[in-house]
Amino acid sequence: MDFFKVIKERESVRDYDPDKKIEKDKLIKILEAGRIAPSAANRQPWKFIVISSNEMLHKVRQCYHREWFKNAPHILVVTGNKSESWIRQDKYNSIETDLTIAMDHMILAAEAEGIGTCWIAAFDYDILRNALKLDTDQVIFSITPLGYQNEGYHKKHNKIRKSFEEVVEFV
Ligand SMILES: Cc1cc2nc3c(=O)[nH]c(=O)nc-3n(C[C@H](O)[C@H](O)[C@H](O)COP(=O)(O)O)c2cc1C
Repeated sequence: MDFFKVIKERESVRDYDPDKKIEKDKLIKILEAGRIAPSAANRQPWKFIVISSNEMLHKVRQCYHREWFKNAPHILVVTGNKSESWIRQDKYNSIETDLTIAMDHMILAAEAEGIGTCWIAAFDYDILRNALKLDTDQVIFSITPLGYQNEGYHKKHNKIRKSFEEVVEFV
């Protein structure tokens, strides 16, 4: 799919078919898009966890109580290790930027494969951390469901955004 079509067509999907798992080759393509994402000093301080088993889905769903979230057949979690990421002289740690770029690559790759996603940051951090048994150095900034939309789902095609003039400045 044309790149601009991908970014224009992507929108947050909150309506998933729970019975339609994603084909392995598509999942691999999406994860590969994350694997080749750029990161500061090329540290690649990430791990991508794809949750698909009923047992783990049940545990992880407790971190975000929305009916639509319960129907996602997969949940993608991007975790990072902040002791592996690049740190600038002034102590700025690039971990959040690195993980966000990787997640964005995968979200756009999913769109290109016809698979729905939704950035989620409003999860309960402790519930997620316990469900995944994360070490103290590991961090998570966003997760996303991965799945096909329910039959009859129509995209909104309604990007509510500030105008070009409001956000762009040529100097
Ligand atoms: C960092 C980030 C966190 C978000 N967290 C949530 C969330 O917790 N729950 C949710 O339903 N949507 C969440 N969203 C989705 C936004 O609401 C959505 O991207 C925005 O309204 C624009 O709509 P669109 O994605 O359909 O273009 C998040 C988006 C981003 C980028």
